[in-house]
Amino acid sequence: MTQTVAMTVNGRAVTVTVDDPQMPLLYALRNDLGLTGPHYGCGLSQCGACTVHLDGASARSCQVPVAQAAGKTVVTLEGLGTPDRPHPVQAAFIAEQAVQCGYCANGMIMESAALLARTPRPTEAQVKDALANNICRCGTHPRVVAAVLRAAQG
Ligand code: FES
Repeated sequence: MTQTVAMTVNGRAVTVTVDDPQMPLLYALRNDLGLTGPHYGCGLSQCGACTVHLDGASARSCQVPVAQAAGKTVVTLEGLGTPDRPHPVQAAFIAEQAVQCGYCANGMIMESAALLARTPRPTEAQVKDALANNICRCGTHPRVVAAVLRAAQG
């Protein structure tokens, strides 16, 4: 049975009509709304590539049924900053060259931005803990941690 889901995405009120309300929010963002910031990695809530903010907290959009986002506020990488006015975490990722292939970076940035929103001055251990389940197969973690600490210094 089709269902129309209304939510706010990157500051814009949107609706998506889906055949299956259990369809992952990730698919609605990418396929219905054209937002390719959140990436499909594992589809099992294990890699973090699909991370978005749901009502201000980080969420793995591959595991959130789209119906659960009804009435909520979603922010994807596209809504975090702009090329002219990047979010501090985005600017720090560029400054620290914290990306190799870049596949994981969007999720890393979203998870890091959520960390700084709740803990503006995290320790290195807190950064590592927050990103422990964001997987990077290139091995950029040391630069990612440096970028988050840089962003925290403002
Ligand atoms: Fe969602 Fe890997 S694709 S956690």
